[in-house]
Amino acid sequence: MASSEPLVLGIETSCDETGIGIVRGHSLLADAVASSVEEHARFGGVVPEVASRAHLEAMVPTIERACDTAGIALRDVDAIAVTAGPGLAGALLVGVAAAKALAIGLDKPLYGVNHLAAHVAVDQLQHGALPEPCLAMLVSGGHSSLLRVGDVTGDIQPMGATIDDAAGEAFDKVARLLGLGFPGGPVIDRTAVSGSSIAIDFPRGLTTRKDLERHRFDFSFSGLKTAVARWVEARERSGEPVPVADVAASFQEAVCDVLVRKALDAASSEGIDEIVIGGGVAANSRLRVLAEERASKLGIRIRVPRPGLCTDNGAMVAALGSEMVARGRTPSALDLPADSSQPVTHVLA
Ligand code: KG4
Ligand code: ZN
Repeated sequence: MASSEPLVLGIETSCDETGIGIVRGHSLLADAVASSVEEHARFGGVVPEVASRAHLEAMVPTIERACDTAGIALRDVDAIAVTAGPGLAGALLVGVAAAKALAIGLDKPLYGVNHLAAHVAVDQLQHGALPEPCLAMLVSGGHSSLLRVGDVTGDIQPMGATIDDAAGEAFDKVARLLGLGFPGGPVIDRTAVSGSSIAIDFPRGLTTRKDLERHRFDFSFSGLKTAVARWVEARERSGEPVPVADVAASFQEAVCDVLVRKALDAASSEGIDEIVIGGGVAANSRLRVLAEERASKLGIRIRVPRPGLCTDNGAMVAALGSEMVARGRTPSALDLPADSSQPVTHVLA
């Protein structure tokens, strides 16, 4: 390993995970995550104030844990990267404040990066340099989009996005109505294993010929969620038991089918033969298999990081920061703001 490559520490606090990652070039040295998910479970969703306080409490211990794992001291770090947005405003502020403190205390450059671009950049830690251009599908609790990535540090063009719920949000809402708990993605993934994906024919949003005219690369999951709710209600009204595993598997199939179809269509339309999938929903086992199966038939390569790198973590922020350093990007100013609605086109704040 070339020790001349910069050592970058990344801080992620956009939602309920306090993530600290340490990378050298494309090598991952540490990925410490402290999650407050348990504290939100009884509310069925992330409570911003609770998340912010948890970040505050977890920050220093998580930084220490990451440094221990990487076998480095903070003074060895060459640059600090932090999620500047998008995300929960109060949660982002904790990370940005910590990053500024480190940058000033250690006298190192600070890079305020986009959370969504970081979900794409993280794949470099596992599969090496991203092809340019590549097509990225970003599927998380807050976002579902198809992006043409010319350069992950500065040239990201949105091709389409959800017009209502994000894919992860649909998993969370359907899990809730099935009484499976929060977060919904992992539990639906597990429950679906014992169900049939063809038991119920749930709708595929924005796939009719008419929809494709205006929304070829957009997604819609709100109708699907309502269809699941109506189906379950009808069952309950008729006094029949709800086949939870079948509902989970058929719902998951509907989401994955549309995601994969549209990602492949977007890549083909751009003449791109590599697709990177990132974000929490990319951890879904069915999505991974289906994408691989259909892409290989078209000669398209799917790159998807291991599940632990798909959900929010600090390594992804460090990975994007490392790329910023490698490409000689100008660091952020020390008055860097946290921007809760930072657009994906704004990669470096
Ligand atoms: O990227 P992420 O950790 O946080 C955001 O930036 O939103 O994504 C969280 C979302 C949640 O909605 C969660 O239910 C979903 O990712 N998720 C999954 C799986 N693991 C997490 N969805 C489907 N299958 C999974 N295995
Ligand atoms: Zn995320």
